Amino acid sequence: MTLDKVTDIYDLQKIARRRVPRMFYDYADSGAWTESTYRDNTDAFEKIKLRQRVARNIDNRSVSTTMIGHDVSIPTALAPVGMTGMQHPDGEIHAARAAEKFGVPFTLSTMSICSIEEVAKATSKPFWFQLYVMRDRGFAADLIGRAKAAGCSALVLTLDLQILAQRHKDVKNGLSAPPKPTIANLINLAFKPAWCLGMLQTQNRSFGNIVGHVKGVEDMSSLGDWTNSQFDPTLDWESVEWIKKHWDGKLILKGVNDVEDAKIAAKLGADAIIVSNHGGRQLDGAAATIDMLPPIVDAVGDQIEIHLDSGIRSGQDIFKAIALGAKSTFIGRAFVYGLGAAGEAGVTKALQLLKKELDLTMALAGETDINEVGYQNLLTPPATARKVFVPKAKPEAKAPAKPRAKPAAAKPAAAKSKTAAAAKTTAKRTTARRKPASKKTES
Ligand SMILES: Cc1cc2nc3c(=O)[nH]c(=O)nc-3n(C[C@H](O)[C@H](O)[C@H](O)COP(=O)(O)O)c2cc1C
Repeated sequence: MTLDKVTDIYDLQKIARRRVPRMFYDYADSGAWTESTYRDNTDAFEKIKLRQRVARNIDNRSVSTTMIGHDVSIPTALAPVGMTGMQHPDGEIHAARAAEKFGVPFTLSTMSICSIEEVAKATSKPFWFQLYVMRDRGFAADLIGRAKAAGCSALVLTLDLQILAQRHKDVKNGLSAPPKPTIANLINLAFKPAWCLGMLQTQNRSFGNIVGHVKGVEDMSSLGDWTNSQFDPTLDWESVEWIKKHWDGKLILKGVNDVEDAKIAAKLGADAIIVSNHGGRQLDGAAATIDMLPPIVDAVGDQIEIHLDSGIRSGQDIFKAIALGAKSTFIGRAFVYGLGAAGEAGVTKALQLLKKELDLTMALAGETDINEVGYQNLLTPPATARKVFVPKAKPEAKAPAKPRAKPAAAKPAAAKSKTAAAAKTTAKRTTARRKPASKKTES
């Protein structure tokens, strides 16, 4: 299948499966243990039903908004994905360039193949950097310094991976970067000529932010063992404060999927949280993020900007997340499959698909501005929505003090437009979700 025949993210996934070496395709398309949370993340989106509104003027629509004050062409950002450069040679650079041109943020993982400096060299706009905190705090400080020096405009601190959960396929495949020359790998690579050719043409074949920067780390062949020996299991809220001070810039806390944690994160004064369960890759059995979004919005939606990831495979999923109170979203596999399928062009295709699906959903739901989308677009708004946002019944319009000479001569056109205006006002009121208290970050 060629890119012009691709109609949705799942088509890109099919192409990626053919082009990407098995161990890296499996690395992306897997969750922890039974993968129940991985499945729930997408299933939960499907269960949400939308209201179909008709006979509304849906011309001139806009799906652009802001994320922590940055303008975005659609409400999404590319999530940090480790080993992106193994899905496609120089994958981080391809993805960052596609994101830059499309007008959405790219987030570089600590566990990337291309280093912070390589990506900065290959792009012209600031990207975001995701931090994993290692036991060696000196190294964490060093990474923060490198991200600052590269001009990164936000730090995404991941809180849900102090230790690595088990993904069975990675163990069975002996996941490593680069792949070890075992017979099984060599046979598999023989069927991936484009990938092999690309890899031969780049020097970026191992963890660019780590190898050569941490003393004694030359071999990361057992990623699981390495991660569990290096990542800091003592990372707590005090550590988050330390990082916040050290970074002294826009900070997004990733991996919050619980109301109490969201409250602590909001108190701490971060710029945003990402309601995330790591795409179902960490705590198997955790709730789908879209199910956790309403109580979190109810608890802290007026204090902090809320983003959501895990399970987004279409623009309609983005619409649902926004309708449920998220300001924006992040996508992981949706762009990874595009990258595996066709590098930069594949990521662009993924973003185009999401934009088209988002716009079409918004139009058919009777809305024209993504910033106005809210609970009124859901067939069944969450219980918290009824408690907080249901607009008060309007008082009956008072009769004019002095009766007009000809009260019966009401103009039908004017009456119609008034009804339309009133309908619009009601829609706007219902939309008014809790927004971050401070507008200082909005540009
Ligand atoms: C292959 C893969 C690698 C990932 N690596 C990281 C990482 O290095 N750092 C991080 O914070 N999250 C990582 N994540 C989680 C993503 O940032 C994001 O939370 C998740 O992919 C969202 O779910 P989705 O893939 O269903 O969109 C990874 C996800 C995948 C699929």
